[in-house]
Amino acid sequence: MGSVSLKVGDGTARFTKSTLCSSALNLVMLFSVLTTNLFALYAFKYSSKTHQHPIEHPHKNISLISEHVSLILREINFSQKKLAKMEKELLGYDSIDISKPNIANELKLFLQHQPLPLGKDSKSGITEMVSSVGHSCDKSMNLLSQYMDYKVGGICPDDWSLAQKLILRGCEPLPRRRCITKSLSKVGLFPFPLSLWKQVSDKIVTWSGLGCKNFKCLNSKKIGSNCVGCFDLVNGTEKKRFVKARGKNDFLIDDVLALGNGGIRLGFDIGGGSGTFAARMAERNVTVVTSTLNVDAPFNEFIAARGLFPLFSSLDQRFPFYDNIFDLVHAANKLSDGSNMEKLEFLLFDLDRILRAGGLFWLDNFYCVDEERKSHLTRLIERFGYKKLKWIVGEKSDATQTGKSQVYLSAILQKPVRV
Ligand SMILES: *[C@@H]1O[C@H](CO)[C@@H](O)[C@H](O)[C@H]1NC(C)=O
Ligand SMILES: *[C@@H]1O[C@H](CO)[C@@H](O)[C@H](O)[C@H]1NC(C)=O
Ligand SMILES: *[C@@H]1O[C@H](CO)[C@@H](O)[C@H](O)[C@H]1NC(C)=O
Ligand SMILES: *[C@@H]1O[C@H](CO)[C@@H](O)[C@H](O)[C@H]1NC(C)=O
Repeated sequence: MGSVSLKVGDGTARFTKSTLCSSALNLVMLFSVLTTNLFALYAFKYSSKTHQHPIEHPHKNISLISEHVSLILREINFSQKKLAKMEKELLGYDSIDISKPNIANELKLFLQHQPLPLGKDSKSGITEMVSSVGHSCDKSMNLLSQYMDYKVGGICPDDWSLAQKLILRGCEPLPRRRCITKSLSKVGLFPFPLSLWKQVSDKIVTWSGLGCKNFKCLNSKKIGSNCVGCFDLVNGTEKKRFVKARGKNDFLIDDVLALGNGGIRLGFDIGGGSGTFAARMAERNVTVVTSTLNVDAPFNEFIAARGLFPLFSSLDQRFPFYDNIFDLVHAANKLSDGSNMEKLEFLLFDLDRILRAGGLFWLDNFYCVDEERKSHLTRLIERFGYKKLKWIVGEKSDATQTGKSQVYLSAILQKPVRV
């Protein structure tokens, strides 16, 4: 009697995607394979009876059939596991499906897990190196594949705006690339601290992917709520910011530093526009990192040209700093669209994490949308247990909306010691 065995070669196509399918689909497939094989079994037995060695009670020997069924089941179980294992080994990645067609090869290579050459690292317990990529990249596989499509070792495509588009869709961190970024000759950089207030030359900035092609054009536009003419360091209003108050909601840098009793050396600025907050702090020997993307303007290059530290990162990512690091966090304008308070909470909790005890949290003309959201923000701040050193609520009538006034909060808060 011939043994009943599964044709694994045929089964492969069916089971390749089994790990990705629902268990219901698995059951359907299992059933179909089972019935096919049972028919094959009967056919085999029937033919063997008619032609060669007759079996005495072929239709009644239930135990024989059940033995074969369990054998088939075991075979299926085994090959299913083997295939799933092979698939994972092949792709090296569990959560992002890179087995789809049209996925750039560089992406597959980047995502492949690499076992450590000397085996398990005794200190960290790590056995392989894993390249990280944001899980939301899965939603933008076309853009990501476009981003990872380049000539290895060649010049990278001029696609920084594509990268930013991915980041804004939550595809952060982006994969690394093995291509060379185009460089500009940065002729005309000034030495520090002269660089803080010298007009930045149009020539040392990449203008591709932007509507404007020079700073004059940018200065004639409103680039977000925190940048109106913010690239004009000579004649614009930037020179007055943080050293001259426009209203009761504006605090002066020296007053805030005095509240820190000389302990303010490191700061983090979000919504920092062209870096003027960091520039004013640099003049006072305080190092400030300015977090900014390049939405509609080359903020990062501009800030760097001033001799300041731009951090190209979206606010949706966990900040790449360790806990209790900063003496000061400065947050200007709105941090989210105000529609989702939980989103704002995630952000504020992370800002709280990186601020040290005794450090200052400066909410600067923080846009609260309305009274209700201001109350929510107030309750949240009270939950953190911050000491309110300054607290000013202001209203501004908004010309663009139907006479509705908008609520702004400016505050200096001190983080308590928590044990
Ligand atoms: C049924 O099959 C089993 C296992 O092959 C065998 O031991 C048994 O003798 C068979 N019974 C009959 C009635 O043929
Ligand atoms: C497959 O085998 C494992 C043990 O090796 C068992 O726990 C599991 O229930 C089996 N699955 C099926 C569908 O038989
Ligand atoms: C600033 O204003 C002066 C005089 O109006 C003008 O000559 C100069 O070009 C302006 N500088 C910038 C950077 O706009
Ligand atoms: C900044 O540091 C320099 C060098 O230590 C010092 O000369 C200068 O007075 C400091 N400036 C301020 C505002 O503290």
